[in-house]
Amino acid sequence: MFIRGAAHGWVAVAGLAACGMGLAVTEGVNVPFPQGYRHWVYIHSMMVDAKSQAFGKQPCEKPCVGGIFHFYANELGLEGYRTGKFPDGAVLADELLEIRQPAAGVSFDGPRRGVGVMVRDSQRYKDTGGWGFGAFDGASQVQSLDADGQKACFACHAAKKDHSYVFTDFHE
Ligand code: HEC
Repeated sequence: MFIRGAAHGWVAVAGLAACGMGLAVTEGVNVPFPQGYRHWVYIHSMMVDAKSQAFGKQPCEKPCVGGIFHFYANELGLEGYRTGKFPDGAVLADELLEIRQPAAGVSFDGPRRGVGVMVRDSQRYKDTGGWGFGAFDGASQVQSLDADGQKACFACHAAKKDHSYVFTDFHE
């Protein structure tokens, strides 16, 4: 369900949202839910609105990969953004929220569609660059990616190998 070959972040992350949703749990490595991520450091946001091709033919119906993405890092994740080296225990989370448009030109964040996560553990997740990739549908805290899904996350993030597999930067 990925939008393959995408060079731009907004398409790529729209792809990640789609990837995690609705897959059966098979043999994915366990990656914990990022408890309390809304209390972490806010990194940035990205919006994929109805004009995006990522919406496909049914702009507001599921599976719909559009929405508002917010990115967060825990303290060790922030240390990684600052130093360029993410220590074990660093967690980066990105949530996807629906877009609510009560009036033309006015948009709000809506219910959560899901959360994607990268958890740093250089030994446990050594097959995927030292990062555990996880996805959680809606309000669920049960990891929904199978092993192939996790590898697909890593395959795209591998483009940022020289940046610890992380795409985003943090700005004070
Ligand atoms: C096709 C490429 C692609 C795939 C596949 C992909 N990502 Fe990403 N990911 C990105 C890009 C690009 C960004 C940065 C988006 C931005 O700048 O807002 C990103 C950002 C992230 C971040 C924030 C940290 C960072 O690297 O900036 C997390 C967490 C994340 N992705 C998790 C996942 C998970 C989990 C999966 C698999 C379900 C996944 N990604 C699949 C391209 C991808």
